[in-house]
Amino acid sequence: VMTGTASASPREVDTIAHRGASAYAPENTLAACAVARIQRADVCEFDIQQTKDHQLVLMHDATLTRTTDVEKVFPRRSPWRVSNFTLAEIQRLDAGSWFSSRYRGERVPTLGQAMRALRNTEIGLLLEIKHPPDSPDIDRRVAAELHDARAWWGRKRLTVQAFDWRSMRAFHSMVPHVPIALLGKPAADRLPELAQYASGINLPHRDLTPGYVEDVHDQGMRVFTWSTRRPPVIRRLISYGVDGIMTNKPDRLENAKRQS
Ligand code: G3P
Ligand code: CA
Repeated sequence: VMTGTASASPREVDTIAHRGASAYAPENTLAACAVARIQRADVCEFDIQQTKDHQLVLMHDATLTRTTDVEKVFPRRSPWRVSNFTLAEIQRLDAGSWFSSRYRGERVPTLGQAMRALRNTEIGLLLEIKHPPDSPDIDRRVAAELHDARAWWGRKRLTVQAFDWRSMRAFHSMVPHVPIALLGKPAADRLPELAQYASGINLPHRDLTPGYVEDVHDQGMRVFTWSTRRPPVIRRLISYGVDGIMTNKPDRLENAKRQS
């Protein structure tokens, strides 16, 4: 944990592959994380949703339409919400062809599958819990799964984040060993209170200022930011002293870090 006003050196800034290397492979799939590893990302960010039978899957949207062929496979199941499909149904879907024929047959992974695929690699995980209204117990289920994984995940990096700060406070009390990041930009005067359970703040890069980075560091928390692939913006964020940058193109961020 960084404290005080010290800035991270460029090589200490984590490259966080947003939904995996999602500019190069279908988001929230094992393929997207494999590309992120090849491009030497430090962390893969994934989004978590819950199925009808209470299984946890990697999926950004509350519906399956944008990133799978669900409308073709289940034409009568509009509006195709994740929470209305069982895991077995979801794992019949093609989660790769929408992106490129090269990824035809890529599946929607479960959280467990993703963690097992990464357990013996050097890449860490940043898991975003999505909170659609029809999935009220998702935090408890993620906490249970991470609790069970503790023995074999070991000391590898794992952070959980959400836009819902209150739910993250409760989540922290369920699994205090898992670091929490809060999405959004809390007012500076709230940072001491939030630092009691959060170890990082993750905000859009347009909302960042050097002063805010300092405020967060002063509370012993790290600063993450999303999401850019533009080298001039990356260089500016590095100069602010952020601790991690999310990007759909990890290779560009790695290049910018080398040049900074
Ligand atoms: O991690 C930040 C970012 O992932 C939040 O936005 O919509 O990509 O999940 P979104
Ligand atoms: Ca996300």
